[in-house]
Amino acid sequence: MEIKEMISDLRTRMQSEMASAENKQALEDIRVRMLGKKGELTAMLRSLGQLSPEERPAAGQLINEARERFTGMIEQRSAELKALERAAALKSETIDVTQPAQMPEIGSKHPIHRVMDEMVECFMGMGFEVLEGPEVELDHYNFELMNIPKNHPARDAQDTFYVDDNIVLRTHTSPMQARAMLSRKPPIRVICPGRVYRADEVDATHSPVFHQMEGLVVDKDVNMADLRGTLNAFAEKIYGKGITTRFRPSFFPFTEPSTEVDLTCSNCHGAGCRICKGTGWIEVLGGGMVNPKVLEMCGIDSSVYSGFAFGIGLERIAMLRYGIKDMRLLYEGDVRFLGQFR
Ligand code: DAH
Repeated sequence: MEIKEMISDLRTRMQSEMASAENKQALEDIRVRMLGKKGELTAMLRSLGQLSPEERPAAGQLINEARERFTGMIEQRSAELKALERAAALKSETIDVTQPAQMPEIGSKHPIHRVMDEMVECFMGMGFEVLEGPEVELDHYNFELMNIPKNHPARDAQDTFYVDDNIVLRTHTSPMQARAMLSRKPPIRVICPGRVYRADEVDATHSPVFHQMEGLVVDKDVNMADLRGTLNAFAEKIYGKGITTRFRPSFFPFTEPSTEVDLTCSNCHGAGCRICKGTGWIEVLGGGMVNPKVLEMCGIDSSVYSGFAFGIGLERIAMLRYGIKDMRLLYEGDVRFLGQFR
């Protein structure tokens, strides 16, 4: 075959192969096969030795010109491929700015913590300091300093989980009274929110883990009227105007006198309904004047100082506040329930 024909044949094959080359690698393969060191055009150049010396220069020139043209063709195809790739990328990576965004799912504050935060804010507004303490507590603080000695019947109502003979999961936030009095000097005004434990079976109104908020004020001339005023302010703040308190005599070893505190039923505002069993009142917390014995055990001179204390169950507040009928809902972590408290 004449050199010219061979070149023209090579060109035809190159063109058709290049047209179907879909990416850079395929194109590079063609270049190597046709124009590379071991490629067809180079082979032609080597075969020039078989021609007569007269024919060689012209043939050589033809081959060199062909190499230049073919290289140009490859470059052009390469640019085309690049443009195609770019167009495809632009198409596949298009962002539809009109599509609604996928928002991250945002949780909600747990109802217990909602009331806790509200109560903390209420008491802080009255000058109380917030104290938190251990849930794994010494028997000494949980019972002894609260005037509940070993074998005292009051321990029956507060059976709990024992780590050992001297360490318990606290049954109430009251041990924080002792911790507050032992760590600061009067005037003392603290509230202590937190988790507490009892060996109770789970049902609609009981849980072995629940929450309380303790309140303690120790100063000169503190009396029962101060407790009443403080709790009345609390009741109005949390449940609204017109909600007040009713004190009923009660017994707690760590207060003397002690009182059970009812709030006006926020459902019927005192008229009487199913929730308050027709009485117009709902029992919500316990309180009283700190027993002088407790003051003394905690290093406070009861002839100079007096104090009041109260303990509020947060589950009860939350359940009344939001009309929750079953306490278990508060612990199950069901987002359909929790999502309602946004
Ligand atoms: N600690 C008591 C309980 O868990 C509640 C309580 C009653 C706390 C009277 C007080 C108080 O501070 O004065 O049942």
